[in-house]
Amino acid sequence: MIEPTRRDVLGGLAALVAVGPFASSARAADPRTLIAAERPRVLMQGAKPTAVWSFDERWPLVLRTPRGEMFSARLENALAEEHTAIHWHGIRVPFAMDGVPYITQEPVLPGGAFDYAFVPPDPGTFFFHPHCNTVEQLGRGLAGVLIVEDPREAGLFDVDHVMLVKDWALEAGGGFGPFITDKGAATAGTFGTFRSVNAKPLETLTARPGSIVRLRIVNVDVTRVIVPAIEGADAQIIATDGHAMTPLPLGRWKLGPAMRLDIVFQMPQAEGAVVRLVDAWGLEPYPLARVTSEGASAHPAQALPTLPAADLPEPDLTSAIRLPLELTAGHVDPAFDKIANTLGLTLDDLCRATRTYWAINRTPWPGMGHRLKPPPLHELARGKSYLFEIVNATPHLHPMHLHGHVFKVVSSSKGDVPVHWADTVLARPKERLEIALVAGEPGDWMVHCHIIEHQETGMMGYVRVA
Ligand code: C2O
Ligand code: CU
Repeated sequence: MIEPTRRDVLGGLAALVAVGPFASSARAADPRTLIAAERPRVLMQGAKPTAVWSFDERWPLVLRTPRGEMFSARLENALAEEHTAIHWHGIRVPFAMDGVPYITQEPVLPGGAFDYAFVPPDPGTFFFHPHCNTVEQLGRGLAGVLIVEDPREAGLFDVDHVMLVKDWALEAGGGFGPFITDKGAATAGTFGTFRSVNAKPLETLTARPGSIVRLRIVNVDVTRVIVPAIEGADAQIIATDGHAMTPLPLGRWKLGPAMRLDIVFQMPQAEGAVVRLVDAWGLEPYPLARVTSEGASAHPAQALPTLPAADLPEPDLTSAIRLPLELTAGHVDPAFDKIANTLGLTLDDLCRATRTYWAINRTPWPGMGHRLKPPPLHELARGKSYLFEIVNATPHLHPMHLHGHVFKVVSSSKGDVPVHWADTVLARPKERLEIALVAGEPGDWMVHCHIIEHQETGMMGYVRVA
């Protein structure tokens, strides 16, 4: 069917040895085929295989591509009865490549295909996932990581490892339980029962003593917010949502669904020393991964490397137009359903939830009811600077994502958020956040909560860039 493993590995190596900034190798665009299909695999030891959906035999699927060169991927839909698409989360793609069914492209029907091709402008750690019935499609595992490589980073790290964090909604026998519940959708979301990193209960790896380790922590869970922490070494954050930041000691950074954190640390010099990645959210740290030092020392103690500075459109805060994004709860909009029901059932209904619990600026848009597309939350002019004021008037956390743009998180009313680049920002209860951006390409760019049950029950809208 597909044998991309070796080719991807070689591609990754080729990118790593490219010389000089933006070395444009003669490497032809390497069209990958991603086949969305059910591929049962044993997740829970001793249980039956789980009906995982994936793009490839590998889980996690990690693709690497050089910055500034054409990336192409053909999506084939081999799912039995669902349409799908691929949204390249966080990548500033052209509008037609954004992968939102009905908004940027037609849904890819079972048996159908779609060709994605774009030049990723920014290096970093990104991921991709479908954008309809996401609670189930992503819940079943339909996701991958896309690392956009910057040749200037060659040689900075001895170990560069993806930590794909995801809970699975499993029942005792290994089958899937419900992906969405009324109780979850109306509160913090429905938590999975089987926690994992790279589909394992505990990820384990080895590294030479003294080696410089970069972990790319990607939270693809549909619900859980984690607090990544390192025990046994001093770790620094070097990138948020893929974009370089002034290094910051890894403190209590809340990593919501869809958010990424690149961290770096040096392994202790003692052979057999163990460094642990844990989720420090709860009272007891929850173990996620273990790195054991093995072999001869790679380096003596040294300062941790930093990434080349991010190169993104800088919003002009003095002229930025201020716009509200108010997050509210408690919306029940029976009119929505009445209209939908009189229109009859169509393909579109895969994307439509029947309940509404949330809204942005008092306008709920549940479950991608595209025929019921509301007016834009705001209209922006390309190239102009904007400052969105996100006000969370609910008692829950909301990782808010904007498509097609990278924004600067400028301030938080809680006073504990450093300025950083992001495509998803966690709005805590009663928090007021300011995010600034330069309006990018024309299009209707989605804005939504990445707790997918919130997204699919109203906390979704779009801004129109003209
Ligand atoms: Cu990763 Cu619209 O989302
Ligand atoms: Cu939310």
